[in-house]
Amino acid sequence: MSASAKIPSDVEALYDQVSAGFRDAWGDCDPAMVDILESIRESHASGSSVLDIGCGPGGPASRLIKAGYHVTGIDLSQKMIDICQATLPGKFMKTDMRKFEPKVRFDIIVCSFSLFHVSHAATYSMLVKMASWLRPSGTVVIASIAAEDYSRCSPKLPEIQQKQYVENILTNFMGHEVPATLLTTKEWLRILQEASFQIQSVDRHSRQVDKYSYDEKHIFITANRTHEEPLFGPYPLPTVKRRPHLLSNGALEPFVKRLTRRELEAALEAVKDNEKVLSIGSGNGELPVWIAKRAGTAYALKPNCDRSDVEAEKWSESQVEISQGAAEHLPFKDNKFDAAVAVWQLHYVQDLELSLREMTRVVDATAPNARIVIVQGAPDNEVAKLTNKACAEIVEEGMAKGESAADHHGLLLATAARVFTQRGFGDIEVCHVQMACNFPEEDVETRCQVAAEVLTNFWYKEHERVEDIKAAFVPVLKEHFASSPWEVGAQAVMMVAKPKAVAGEFAAGI
Ligand SMILES: C[S@@+](CC[C@H](N)C(=O)[O-])C[C@H]1O[C@@H](n2cnc3c(N)ncnc32)[C@H](O)[C@@H]1O
Repeated sequence: MSASAKIPSDVEALYDQVSAGFRDAWGDCDPAMVDILESIRESHASGSSVLDIGCGPGGPASRLIKAGYHVTGIDLSQKMIDICQATLPGKFMKTDMRKFEPKVRFDIIVCSFSLFHVSHAATYSMLVKMASWLRPSGTVVIASIAAEDYSRCSPKLPEIQQKQYVENILTNFMGHEVPATLLTTKEWLRILQEASFQIQSVDRHSRQVDKYSYDEKHIFITANRTHEEPLFGPYPLPTVKRRPHLLSNGALEPFVKRLTRRELEAALEAVKDNEKVLSIGSGNGELPVWIAKRAGTAYALKPNCDRSDVEAEKWSESQVEISQGAAEHLPFKDNKFDAAVAVWQLHYVQDLELSLREMTRVVDATAPNARIVIVQGAPDNEVAKLTNKACAEIVEEGMAKGESAADHHGLLLATAARVFTQRGFGDIEVCHVQMACNFPEEDVETRCQVAAEVLTNFWYKEHERVEDIKAAFVPVLKEHFASSPWEVGAQAVMMVAKPKAVAGEFAAGI
């Protein structure tokens, strides 16, 4: 690094600053990337659509456009986008990849040297979302630097071998010291497979840039989306479903108060044209109240219908008809509703298949807008990941041999897709909903203690080893907050199942 180089305070500023000199330094497109893009032409004809994430000044994009592909490029730096817009015919937008929500699906996604600017958790999340943005058999191309290949990682190798990645390692980039996240090759392959990808190729190429005295080894991975639904992951699915969670009194409130919710709006939107909507396991009651405001009346099923514990005033003023009962035996006649909604509910039911079948029984498949809406955790849901990491071992000690305490919401969703398809609701769409639980406590020790308390009580308030679980959470949270300081991701998947008589793609399996 030259002594005079000013270190930009963030990635956006850095790339705005280096945008003008980027092509001079790096040339048009990395020669190894040119070869990879050439090779994927065998499986994706010209006219296919491409998303280029972190497109920079358009090196890979220009090659793809020349090959006849329709390219959409996104980048955090406006200056990079300006260069692409001025020189290339594709569609280019300034967006942070972590917030991007495309409305269309792509045949190819390219991430050329951009993922090392986000954390390991964000990389994982991006892979899950990228898989869901691809059409079946779509291809992802990733270029990066593997942690084991980067000379500055050598002193940290024991730590890297344990975690399989390193965050905030200072890399030299165009004369600037830039913190980066580097994964080992093994970790890339692991998380790509968890996100449902099938690896096609892994290549390494050395790259020299004389101006900055680089001699770096780069890794290029191509992988295809399989027939499995990425949002039902992480893969492989467990063979046994976890036993249901206990719904402890007062456990939800401290968690929900900190939650930036988006799934309720999404569920409400999904039933906007429905007239008789049953909300199963309505939590603190917001959703049925909103539905009642719009539709005149809403129907809510609660295992315990004591109004005092469910924000009584909200419910009493609204036209919500509350019924008491279990999801396995809905106290309603066949075809009473035109929609059923179950948000964060399936992990509490004793008999999952029976509960799902009950939903198909009470929703009239011949109604014009008939649908069943389910919300559960996404494969990148950090609450579930951290809970599994901190608590599963302790909780399993009190379980039967071979039983697992680990949550896997994808298994619940995959089971729902199969049961719904078998019972005439086989037109299934799923989408990822970004949301998070916020921990704004300034002092990191306090933040870890508070988060440990909130997350432990959320699931294990009445567990006999509640204090041990809390203690086990603290180091896990400390590590998490080091790269994602103020929040724990509560990413969700919304599934909307509509009637379709013929058995569809989700009928078999699980
Ligand atoms: C090393 S450059 C690579 C540019 C181009 N992909 C190539 O291979 O020539 C990394 C690019 O990723 C972009 N980037 C970094 N973080 C990003 C984020 N969170 N969202 C979108 N783009 C990002 C940067 O602005 C920069 O243009």
